[in-house]
Amino acid sequence: MNIELKKPTVLNIDEMQQLVSKEVMAGIILYRSDSEIATTIRSYTIAIADERIIGFAALHIHTKTLAEVRSLVVHEDFRRLGVGKMIVEALLKEAIVLGLKEVLTLTYKKEFFEKLGFVEIPKESIPDQKIWQDCIKCKHFPICNEVSLIKQI
Ligand SMILES: CC(C)(COP(=O)(O)OP(=O)(O)OC[C@H]1O[C@@H](n2cnc3c(N)ncnc32)[C@H](O)[C@@H]1OP(=O)(O)O)[C@@H](O)C(=O)NCCC(=O)NCCS
Repeated sequence: MNIELKKPTVLNIDEMQQLVSKEVMAGIILYRSDSEIATTIRSYTIAIADERIIGFAALHIHTKTLAEVRSLVVHEDFRRLGVGKMIVEALLKEAIVLGLKEVLTLTYKKEFFEKLGFVEIPKESIPDQKIWQDCIKCKHFPICNEVSLIKQI
């Protein structure tokens, strides 16, 4: 199977929303509106196979040193094939090129991120703006089982 990583355009947003909808409904990934995705479209990387989007994630910059892997999803039919790893590794390279120093994630998939070199940190050490911009929108706030992990790059 040939998998290609690309930067999306706004024309991909409908397909991206469809791909992530089940995880959004389950409360695993935070809902983002079409216009929010459009505003931040440059932060996304998509994985394409047979002209279909089979996965994506965004690298969101918080500060001069810190970015976050957000909204990572791989289509159910394509999981455990290395697609998630490909996407996160591409985001890490992007973060290095941008001069960032650390990449954070908040996730229920601790082992997946540990395999990529992320290390768990106490949730209290994540930046306040993350909590107030994002977590507060989540249906699980403030009692959530997500763990925060970070990788120095
Ligand atoms: C988490 C997710 C993105 C992983 O994508 P994937 O393409 O299946 O992962 P990969 O095949 O690249 O896996 C890379 C490694 O992590 C492991 N891994 C993948 N999913 C895992 C999981 N749920 N639990 C533990 N390990 C996992 C793989 O076995 C593989 O290990 P290896 O390198 O030793 O072979 C995918 O399961 C998904 O979309 N889940 C729903 C959304 C979600 O939970 N997103 C997480 C961010 S909040």
